Amino acid sequence: MKHTAIKDALQAKKFDEEITICGWVRTRRDSKKFSFMELNDGTCFASIQVIADSEIDSYKNVLNASTGSSVKVIGLLKESPGKGQKVEVHAQKVEIFGVADSDYPLQKKRHSREFLRTIAHLRTRTNTFGAVFRVRHAASFAVNKFFNERGFYYLHTPIITASDCEGAGQMFRVSTLDAINPPLNEKKEVDYTKDFFAEETSLTVSGQLEAELFASALSKVYTFGPTFRAENSNTARHLAEFWMIEPEMAFCDLAGNMDLAEEFIRYVIKYVLENCEEDMQFFNKWVEKGIIQSLEDLCKSDFERMTYTDAIKVLEKANKSFDFPVKWGIDIQTEHERYLTEEYHKKPVFITDYPRDIKAFYMRVNDDEKTVAAMDLLVPRLGEIIGGSQREERLDVLKKNMAKHDLDEETYSWYMDIRRYGTTPHAGFGLGFERLIMYLTGIENIRDVVPFPRTPGSAKF
Ligand code: 4AD
Ligand code: MG
Repeated sequence: MKHTAIKDALQAKKFDEEITICGWVRTRRDSKKFSFMELNDGTCFASIQVIADSEIDSYKNVLNASTGSSVKVIGLLKESPGKGQKVEVHAQKVEIFGVADSDYPLQKKRHSREFLRTIAHLRTRTNTFGAVFRVRHAASFAVNKFFNERGFYYLHTPIITASDCEGAGQMFRVSTLDAINPPLNEKKEVDYTKDFFAEETSLTVSGQLEAELFASALSKVYTFGPTFRAENSNTARHLAEFWMIEPEMAFCDLAGNMDLAEEFIRYVIKYVLENCEEDMQFFNKWVEKGIIQSLEDLCKSDFERMTYTDAIKVLEKANKSFDFPVKWGIDIQTEHERYLTEEYHKKPVFITDYPRDIKAFYMRVNDDEKTVAAMDLLVPRLGEIIGGSQREERLDVLKKNMAKHDLDEETYSWYMDIRRYGTTPHAGFGLGFERLIMYLTGIENIRDVVPFPRTPGSAKF
């Protein structure tokens, strides 16, 4: 079906030629002699104006083209005299693919994002969600472009796994056993040796462990895929299914890891600002005023770096009544993160060298034996956007850490092998892709930057 994308029609330089466009009717207004339709096909933010003379043969189709209907218009592309739009289409023929019933929920009025979430199958036809998902595409493309330009190989890590990377026990079980009458072993526990994989398996929380294996062969790799967490936290920044980008580099330490993270964030921001101008203008005006300027400023300034121990000192002196009291050894909470990045530094900040006891088993133990070579990147409006570390490459230290975390050496024998056969200092991080999209667009709820959110109690669509 030959037709011109509305994005291209709006940028046309040649006029008075025949054009065919397709799209969904955003609005229609009829006067005695003409009808005016705003047509949008999602290829760009703007809609195109179609003018249909009541004298054309197919005018009855125009009168049937209710809001939400899908149509094809053949007409002449004209330079528009009206202000605000440069081109319009003077219809010669209008066909309808599908009329939208009169109960189409996206009539011309503003809807709350909460309401739109209940109609996630249709919400992408609104200005806001069209813009969000075009930006999501651009950011995703920029991620692959960034790593490709720097010699990283894209690795597809498994989704089903028998190991728990973060050791937090927040995994969704994958099983084909009979849920009502599962086979039991002698101890009357579920006998997973009878299950599909002959052992207990889950959806992965992170592709990191496998990325480490590949970095130990290809030097620089990254994963970009779905990850799953069965954490029952109903917040505006947690999903049960989210996409994570995880680079992993051999022959790299914590400082090199932070350098890459910083360069990476700036690159994606710049790419989106340059390639999604119209969508970003919309967010700037209607969602988060001034976001373009603040993203541009961010691309110019260096991120702060501060140790956990210093961050705790700053929080103790902050003269704030935090809900979670501050003392060395606590896990830094969102309220603390936001104080550090929004009020204290007023820019993104890496917090490094966290206490060993609150971090995962794979992080490299520092010489003080109390802290690990970890880094979290905190950004204004969100708090944590990246978590990463240098990895423990010394087999004896790793074994001790695993014992501390009650991890079974047999299950992780392949992970330990990498330390046995040509171990290297190596490092990597994980960036939550949806948090990045929130950061880029100013959208406050993570449910509104993912096509179909999975959260506790909700897996619709
Ligand atoms: O800090 P996390 O748990 O780190 C890891 O998974 C490491 N294995 C990464 C690595 O070093 N390769 O998660 C990394 C990031 C967080 O900083 C956050 O942006 C995001 O993933 N994230 C979530 N995003 C949405 N919903 C959730 N439930 C998230 N949990 C983590
Ligand atoms: Mg983290």
